[in-house]
Amino acid sequence: MQNKLLKNKPVNLEEQAIGVMDSGVGGLSVLQHIHRLLPHEHLAYVADSQYAPYGSLSPAQITERCIAIADFLIAHGVKALVVACNTATAASIQLMREQYSLPIIGMEPAVKPAALASQNGVVGVLATVGTLKSAQFAALLANYGQDIQVHTQGCIGLVECIERGELDTTKTKTLLKQYCQPLLDAGADTVVLGCTHYPFVRQSIQDIVGDDVSVIDTGEAVAKHLHNTLQEQSLLTTSVGVPSTTVWSNSQVANADTVIQQLWGNGHTTIKPLE
Ligand code: DGL
Repeated sequence: MQNKLLKNKPVNLEEQAIGVMDSGVGGLSVLQHIHRLLPHEHLAYVADSQYAPYGSLSPAQITERCIAIADFLIAHGVKALVVACNTATAASIQLMREQYSLPIIGMEPAVKPAALASQNGVVGVLATVGTLKSAQFAALLANYGQDIQVHTQGCIGLVECIERGELDTTKTKTLLKQYCQPLLDAGADTVVLGCTHYPFVRQSIQDIVGDDVSVIDTGEAVAKHLHNTLQEQSLLTTSVGVPSTTVWSNSQVANADTVIQQLWGNGHTTIKPLE
């Protein structure tokens, strides 16, 4: 397949933004960890909300969206891409890595850390149906789930609530109770947030499962992996100024910009429509 990025490193490539993409606003939870760890990096984020949830699309449809967004971000000059979406990583990251030569960081549900953290060997995973039925997730279980019991729960409708900024509504809490209860019934002492939208309702999940259950997600680990990758490739910015953050969104939600501001919670951000 044709490589879409020039092999020769452009001058000042390290001063370009980090591109981050998700099916919607969920990846902003990862963007927060990236910004915390790399506070001087410019950030370019695409929320493909019009096509959310990716969990209900076919792998081919998800890959089509991922390629369109990666092309968009690369055209805007990014030095690395973070696929801040478990569902898109499972469906498309292999092909993306074949197609582009810039560093691409993906993410997967934290089954491995959960297996290490669990005291009783019973782990619950909350994720989209797309992630749970992917070959990548099956491989993850085969690699790290052998010595533990893993109970999975697809969370239909939860991404949509979070896209609308409904973090604290009765509807969202009812869904969360419905999805957490089977994991509690199975005796899970560790619950994995296997979708980047879910950290935005983390407190509600913790309240439901109780303080004796550990709730873990992968945002911080992804930010660390990104940092190490940029360092290895001499791509960390040398600037110490205030960086820019641009969020492109094609959300059809009426108060989309307010939802983005509410979830992202950082200043110096420009929100633009994604055509
Ligand atoms: N944030 C995405 C993930 O991590 C949500 C997927 C979806 O849109 O279904 O899986």
